[in-house]
Amino acid sequence: MADLHLSLDRQAGGLARQVAGELREAVRTGRLPAGTRLPASRDLARDLAVSRGVVVEAYEQLVAEGFLESRIGAGTTVAAVAIEEPVSPADASGDFGGRPTSPDLGAFPRQAWSASYRHVLATLPNDALDYGDPGGVPELRGELAAYLRRVRAARAEPENVVVVTGVAQGLSLVVQALGPLRLATELPTSERQTPLLRRAGAELVGIPVDDEGIDVAELARSGARGVLLTPAHHYPTGVVLSPRRRAELISWAARTGATILEDDYDAEFRFDREPVGCLQGLAPGRVVLAGSVSKALAPGLRLGWLVAPASLAAELRKFRGEFDLGSPVLDQYTLAHFIATGAYDRHLRRMRREYRARRDALVGALAERFPEVKVCGISAGLHLFAELPPEWDARAFAAEAVAAGLAAEPVDGPAVVIGFARWPGHRLAAAVREMRSP
Ligand SMILES: Cc1ncc(COP(=O)(O)O)c(C=O)c1O
Repeated sequence: MADLHLSLDRQAGGLARQVAGELREAVRTGRLPAGTRLPASRDLARDLAVSRGVVVEAYEQLVAEGFLESRIGAGTTVAAVAIEEPVSPADASGDFGGRPTSPDLGAFPRQAWSASYRHVLATLPNDALDYGDPGGVPELRGELAAYLRRVRAARAEPENVVVVTGVAQGLSLVVQALGPLRLATELPTSERQTPLLRRAGAELVGIPVDDEGIDVAELARSGARGVLLTPAHHYPTGVVLSPRRRAELISWAARTGATILEDDYDAEFRFDREPVGCLQGLAPGRVVLAGSVSKALAPGLRLGWLVAPASLAAELRKFRGEFDLGSPVLDQYTLAHFIATGAYDRHLRRMRREYRARRDALVGALAERFPEVKVCGISAGLHLFAELPPEWDARAFAAEAVAAGLAAEPVDGPAVVIGFARWPGHRLAAAVREMRSP
């Protein structure tokens, strides 16, 4: 009999629908293979602390849909339905092991997303299928502005928002719009971003990060006219920019006329305390906020946003028009509907709980298996930063983690970034136990 892990959002109501949704997803993705015998409704109801009627209703629904079979004497079993072939991380990203910052792609809210998509297809006027505003359809810019004001304390109005395909494209557009400039980046930084920044015309200068975040005095000495940073959760160390440094940074930008590019890549996931508001909310005239759904939903959606001062936003919109005429409109309307109906918030609430449990499992397993390793940066995001003893080889340690099924990348130091979003806690812990000593 299958041991089932189903996560339910009790506040959201509709428990039978939620149980059915989780089971359907598990069958579709192959987590519950054909022939698997499900627990008796009474047992599952007890495990989930719901009434038996909830489980009976969910089972009946899935029998009707053909995902489950129910035979007298044999109980309820998983039917032989077409399984969506899981794309291996190697196929998806070209990187063996996947990115440590990627979310759990199996948790993508397929049902809720497809409900929004169907709603959009059924109601969208024909004219809306024409080339849209290259800066994004007004409905999405409106929803994003309201969402970012509410959740990130951003100073955003629809005219400040430019829809892009992700933080990556957003940064590239901003650097091109600013013209050739000396751009400071954090040291260490996400090495994946440096080629696109250079290609967009930036001359890069690395500024060290300590336990308060970027060293603003060093930044001031560097002669940079712009800085790209991850203040809510530094990538890769996880340091949060201290209030003192935030103030210093903003006064540096005001003094020099420099632009701050705020990469808010994983701000939705804060586990141990309230999120710090974004820098853009403190200095909307000097900061460009960049974010995307890559961590909250899936990187493959390629949906993101910039919030920029009005004149720069107008320029970015024009730029996007000249460059590729904007992002696909159906996806934009779908995201707008998904946010407006509360589905985005509900998904985030559910995933926050789940990722927190996964983080705790990974941290616990590492402490047990490798007590010499110092783990930091765990208050937010989807990855942790593991500082290794100086004599250890970060590449070998990361390769060992990847071989055990974890998403990991070495960083000079020596240190390793390890993602905890991809697997449930028990699988993360098992992977750590499998790793050989360095
Ligand atoms: C530091 C950092 N910023 C931004 C992103 C996301 O980029 P995008 O929104 O283009 O998917 C990532 C993705 O891994 C990242 O690690």
